[in-house]
Order: sequence, then C-alpha cells, then structure tokens
Amino acid sequence: MGARFMGWGIALPERVVTNDELSQTLPTSDEWIRERTGIRERRIGGTVTNLGAIAGRAALDDAGVDARDIDFLLLATSAADRVSPATSSMIAHEIGLNCPAMDLNAACSGFMYAVRTAQGLLETGNKRILVVGAEVLSRFVDWNDRTMAVLLADGAGATVLEYDPTENDILSFSLGTDGANSELLTCEHGGYFWMNGPEVFRNAVRVVVDSAERAMSMAGITSQDLSLVIPHQANIRIIQAACQRLDIEMDRAVVCLDRYGNTSSASIPLAFDDARKNDRVHKGDYALLTGFGAGMTWASAVVRWSR
Ligand code: ACO
Repeated sequence: MGARFMGWGIALPERVVTNDELSQTLPTSDEWIRERTGIRERRIGGTVTNLGAIAGRAALDDAGVDARDIDFLLLATSAADRVSPATSSMIAHEIGLNCPAMDLNAACSGFMYAVRTAQGLLETGNKRILVVGAEVLSRFVDWNDRTMAVLLADGAGATVLEYDPTENDILSFSLGTDGANSELLTCEHGGYFWMNGPEVFRNAVRVVVDSAERAMSMAGITSQDLSLVIPHQANIRIIQAACQRLDIEMDRAVVCLDRYGNTSSASIPLAFDDARKNDRVHKGDYALLTGFGAGMTWASAVVRWSR
C-alpha cells in the first residue's frame, strides 16, 4: 500500500524577463548570469492564488479527478499572497475544492515537505491529496540587488497523490532542517530576500548529497539505478556539483532553470513537467527528487513511477 502520483500540472506567468533585460538596469550581464547560474530567462508576474489554482486545476484534469474528490489541499509557498488568510483557502475556492486546506513553508524544499505530509495524510485515511507549490518571489526581490534579482522567479506546479492499497510510488524520504544556518538566506516582513550566496551554495551541495545518499540507501538502490534526478532548480553549478559527488552523469538530471530561474517550491514540479514533456518519465524507473532551501531545509525522496 502507498501513495501514487496520479497527475501533474504547472502554471507560468506570460511575461518573460531575459538576462539582457536585467542587464539594462543592473550591473550584470547575460554572460555572467549564464556562466555562474545557468539561467537564461525567467517568468515574472501573477499571484500565488492565481498561479497555484491554474496548476492545481491542471493536475486534477491530468489525473482525471473531480475537485469534489480531493480530501486535502497542501500549498507549499514562501510567498503567501497575504499574512492571513492562508493562500491555500483562496486556491481551494478558485478550484472548487470542498476539503481542508493549509499553507506550508519550507522554502525551496517546500514541495517535497508537502509531498511527505501528503504521504502521511494518505496513510491515515485520506484518499486523494492535491499538493501545490506556488511562488511569486518577484514581489520580494530588490530589483537593485543583482545577487537576488538574477536568480528568483515566479511559477507554480502541482500533483495529485492518491492512496493505493497495492502500489506505492514513494520508496523513501530523507528530510532535515538546520536552524543554525537560518541567517544564510532570509526575507524580513516587508523586506526583500537576502542571501550569503557562496555559503548557501556550499551547504546546498552537502545537504543534497547527504540526504540523497540516505534516501537511496533506505530505498535499497544506488545512484546507478536512477534513471532521472529531478533537483530543485537553483543554480546549474549546484546540480553539477551534487551529481558529480553522487556519481550521476548530468544527462540524467532534469534542468529547466535556464528558462524558469529559481521558483523555490514550484521548481521540482516544473522540472517533472519538463521531463515528462520530453518523454523522460517511464513506468518502473527510479527517480531521485531532491530539494534544499532557506532554513536551511532539505528533502530527498526516491520514487518509482507506477504509471
Ligand atoms: N552579476 C555580475 N556580478 C555579480 C552578480 C551578478 N548578478 N552577483 C554577484 N556578482 C559578483 C560579486 O559581487 C563578486 O564580485 P567581487 O569578486 O568583485 O566581489 C563576484 O561576482 C563573485 O561573487 P560570488 O558571490 O562569489 O559568486 P558565485 O560564483 O558564488 O555566484 C551565486 C553567486 C550565483 C549567488 C551563487 O553563490 C549561488 O548560486 N548560490 C546559491 C544560491 C541558491 O541556491 N539559493 C537557494 C535558494 S533561494 C531561496 O530559497 C528563495
């Protein structure tokens, strides 16, 4: 028995902001951004409610599930539209859900934390959970700060998880939080994101590698068994460094940050969608889903697609 991924959906703002456009107002360049981060362009705009509802509805359609059949909505976000009420309430209303809904903030690990929470809810009597990761990080960017402005972006992704008495897609999870590193990446009320980039980079590679190794060991596999790695999309160099330490060639890693930038809790479902559109998701294959972010938080899971 276990949890199965039944459908996925995404939402992206229409407005594309290229590196060249940012270079017109900031002391940066397309060359620096591409070389140091891998990002070419990003999407900016919308609200968490609006993007989250579009992605959530798309996931329901993809799963062939009616809104009335969802038992719980979990929204992972670091950019809630308002302090109160929780943005999940508005998304539930927009989609037409009639079930409990709550927000969860674990920064860029948020989507994986929400999937882990959904897994627990399915084990305790719920049948179908809608998990949404949605962010409008651009609202918390100081557009005069080149460090953050070139990285953060907006978007949403969602999945429907269903209880199954015989099948199970999620083989293992390794999550953690280290509050001792909470000052490395912050955003105060009414303020902007600030980050110690090199320290976040160093710690990100370490926690991704550690948690991925733990998740693979719990699932009884090695990195050679993985067909796909679906990592949080923060910086291509973090993905390359982690893959190298895990002995995984880069052609097994999904990369969409070149087009979407860092969308925090939306980035893993956006990367999944990219992999599926490119026919990289196949029944029976093992995949590693791994995220890290402010907190610092991290979360790795080994999944095996049952459909
Ligand atoms: N354009 C041009 N130059 C820049 C820019 C920019 N956008 N940003 C920084 N620089 C400069 C710096 O000022 C520095 O100049 P100096 O040598 O004269 O002092 C130089 O480039 C090198 O700076 P570093 O910070 O050492 O550059 P680094 O190679 O580490 O890249 C980056 C910076 C991209 C921020 C990197 O550290 C990184 O990706 N860190 C992790 C980011 C991340 O993963 N965040 C995660 C989560 S985000 C969230 O949770 C919402």
